Amino acid sequence: MRDRPYTLLSCSVSIDGYIGSAASRLLLSNDADFDRVDAVRASCDAILVGAATVRSDNPRLLVRSQARRDERTARGLAPSPMKVTVTRRAELDARADFFTAGKAEKLVYCATSRVRDASERLGPVATVVDAGHTVEMERLSTDLAARGVERLMVEGGATVHTQFLTADLVDELQLVVAPIFVGDSQAPRFVRDGFFPWNSARRATLASVHQIGDVVLLRYALSSRFEDD
Ligand SMILES: NC(=O)c1ccc[n+]([C@@H]2O[C@H](COP(=O)([O-])OP(=O)(O)OC[C@H]3O[C@@H](n4cnc5c(N)ncnc54)[C@H](OP(=O)(O)O)[C@@H]3O)[C@@H](O)[C@H]2O)c1
Repeated sequence: MRDRPYTLLSCSVSIDGYIGSAASRLLLSNDADFDRVDAVRASCDAILVGAATVRSDNPRLLVRSQARRDERTARGLAPSPMKVTVTRRAELDARADFFTAGKAEKLVYCATSRVRDASERLGPVATVVDAGHTVEMERLSTDLAARGVERLMVEGGATVHTQFLTADLVDELQLVVAPIFVGDSQAPRFVRDGFFPWNSARRATLASVHQIGDVVLLRYALSSRFEDD
């Protein structure tokens, strides 16, 4: 068993680098790319999003294609991967689709100070993990590996992206650029401020470029573990 899962960060951005709008959920991709993302989800053991994304987007995070769900079931897996989120404040609604949609296990990594609140609120619908005083993505990744997660898909938002990337925990970045501008500095960008391992002195490796209708998929190999297919 590896000490952390193969980690794939998947994100769609506008031409001007935003991943959402300040006011409402923004659909950046197209149907063909949503289907591609569905296939990536089906290939993973767990999908992680930040608590703000659970609150703002109310994502279901399920594999949509019946054929892919059947294929997972035939391999002895749950139809959709485990869902994982991370929170300091524990202000998550147990009725959110993250918790109610699908039968896969749900994990909530919570800072110690709010674990009791989280357990009271979310205990019936998820496993609440005391992640320590400060939730660190490296420790979280190690814990996921110990729970059998070999392939982790990180699906946002910006705060979570930033921590995984700055901690050098991402093996593969799948970045989709959608042909729109958001043009609102209040909207979330792909990442927040931080020191990233890739910069002008150490450029990331672009592994492939694919056009998918009106969007483009850029795949970056961010570690030596990158799996080309
Ligand atoms: N385009 C895309 O592909 C895509 C995908 C996903 C999301 N999005 C967009 O991204 C935006 C949300 O991004 P965001 O940066 O605001 O939020 P986020 O990354 O989704 O979640 C941030 C929240 O996660 C929790 N968190 C993060 N790191 C933590 C840590 N180390 N310890 C404890 N808790 C931690 C905190 O939750 P608490 O506040 O509960 O403490 C924090 O407020 C939304 O607009 C959404 O639509 C876009």
